[in-house]
Amino acid sequence: MIDFTLNGHACCLPTPAPGTTVLEVLRTSLGQSGTKEGCASGDCGACTIALQSPGQPLTTANACLMPAHQLEGCELITVEGLASPASKTASLSPVQQALVTTHASQCGFCTPGIAMSLAVLHVDHQQRVSDGEFFDDRQRDTLIDHALGGNLCRCTGYRPIRDAAHRLLSGEFGAATLSARSSRTLACVSETVAVSNTDADSCHHRPRTLAELLALRAEKPEIPLIAGGTDLMLEHTQRLSDFSALLDVTQVADLCRIDEGEYAGQSGWWLGAAVTYRQLMPLLHEHYPDAAELLNRLGSEQIRNRGTVGGNIGNASPIGDMPPLLIALEAYVQLMNQHGERILKLEDFFLDYKRTQLLPDEIIHSVFLPQPVASQRLAAYKLSKRRDDDISTLLGVFAWRRDADGHPQHWRVAFGGMAGIPARAHHLEALLDTTPLDSLAPATLDSKMRGVIEQATSADFSPLSDVRGSREYRLKAASHLIPRIAQRILNERTGATSSTITPPPESLDAYLAQS
Ligand SMILES: Cc1cc2nc3c(=O)[nH]c(=O)nc-3n(C[C@H](O)[C@H](O)[C@H](O)COP(=O)(O)OP(=O)(O)OC[C@H]3O[C@@H](n4cnc5c(N)ncnc54)[C@H](O)[C@@H]3O)c2cc1C
Ligand code: FES
Ligand code: FES
Repeated sequence: MIDFTLNGHACCLPTPAPGTTVLEVLRTSLGQSGTKEGCASGDCGACTIALQSPGQPLTTANACLMPAHQLEGCELITVEGLASPASKTASLSPVQQALVTTHASQCGFCTPGIAMSLAVLHVDHQQRVSDGEFFDDRQRDTLIDHALGGNLCRCTGYRPIRDAAHRLLSGEFGAATLSARSSRTLACVSETVAVSNTDADSCHHRPRTLAELLALRAEKPEIPLIAGGTDLMLEHTQRLSDFSALLDVTQVADLCRIDEGEYAGQSGWWLGAAVTYRQLMPLLHEHYPDAAELLNRLGSEQIRNRGTVGGNIGNASPIGDMPPLLIALEAYVQLMNQHGERILKLEDFFLDYKRTQLLPDEIIHSVFLPQPVASQRLAAYKLSKRRDDDISTLLGVFAWRRDADGHPQHWRVAFGGMAGIPARAHHLEALLDTTPLDSLAPATLDSKMRGVIEQATSADFSPLSDVRGSREYRLKAASHLIPRIAQRILNERTGATSSTITPPPESLDAYLAQS
């Protein structure tokens, strides 16, 4: 059985078959059809729910990708739970009132998801303001961008939806109600929702200790590991595969922690494989702000709330965003089985398309991220067709150190989307190490040097053409990042604050990067 709370009511469900999603359970077993299915792949946000796991803040999630067994112990709020339960006539919640007032819904299909994203944003904003943070209109705009980045609307248009969001955050429709709901929930769990569901002969393994996890992995190496499910669950929702069993890593405390530590003579952090992007964000903000900026462009808020570092490495996608970043930052990956551990440079972990060094009885335990040294700098360029909620066409990450005169040296450059695996660009690194920046900057770049850059890019990579970009586009776009990074460093050196050549990080979309 799985026990959780749905809109303030205790709920006890027979354990669903492995791979059954929260959305399936809501719409079928529980008859709660307010949460919609648009894409079943995490892209449209129509299925957005609010979720509070024990000890965690209230966040959004895509119900279409969340395995239902992970509801155990959680508080789940759906659009049906937004209106005030105190009133018999169920008065509209602030977010619903805001959407109605600004005419922010037309066909209404996206509206439940948008309402849930805004309701969680409202709670979060209110909490942060009461903690002393201040947000001006521009900063609120950014909060709204992030909150709605994973919600598509095909007919209303976003202006009225954004108007609703701004007016909601300004307090026009009253205080957020979801947080009040969660504290009331525990008091009203007496009413158990009756559910009919066949108790599948399912096999969810949710070990609580590392020893149990490793023992199960050794005993049944064929069972897929699952963390946030934002990648693996697509096998079920898109390829219609069924899982006979799943081995869930998210209850093992050792994998959910970020610990300070040392490795290979460097101080840094051990990031547990089941640490989510949301949990990682504060550390990156403080120590690697450019990496935090990149993370803001990884998927959507719903995906960042549940996707994990270990899942991003474990899926071994050539277009995953964390591997190029971590490779440029000289990260290591710690693999473990019952017999012990081994630690590899992350760049050595990937062997070929979707093939890694991970042995069948091993798990990814954690990743070692070194602390930045004082002179270290980082820049990440993600090129994708859409700014938000889109996988990279290519991602270039550049790390370097400044010498006493501010000259860059010790370049480490890694790319995703340029080969079957994320990989370092050794020829580009050598070029950057040995070429004066002035001759690489766009204003002074001559055709000979452009040719040298293109040659180095082609020596490093032989990309494929696919739906995201042709081989030619990828090679050209990657080589165009070199003048861009040169200009950025020159700007920083001269203190130039604005340049027609270096756009702000948030406008790093495909067409600008071709300029
Ligand atoms: C709409 C959408 C947008 C996305 N956008 C991006 C994006 O912009 N950039 C990006 O990089 N990714 C993106 N992704 C992909 C995905 O969200 C990330 O790769 C995420 O980090 C996967 O983590 P997870 O915990 O959800 O992995 P899961 O789906 O749980 O697992 C993924 C794989 O890793 C394996 N695995 C999980 N944990 C371990 C472990 N501890 N040891 C060994 N193997 C393990 C699983 O067996 C599985 O093969 C997107 C996905 C969606 C649906
Ligand atoms: S149904 Fe589209 S994101 Fe879930
Ligand atoms: S109102 Fe129709 S899709 Fe948004």
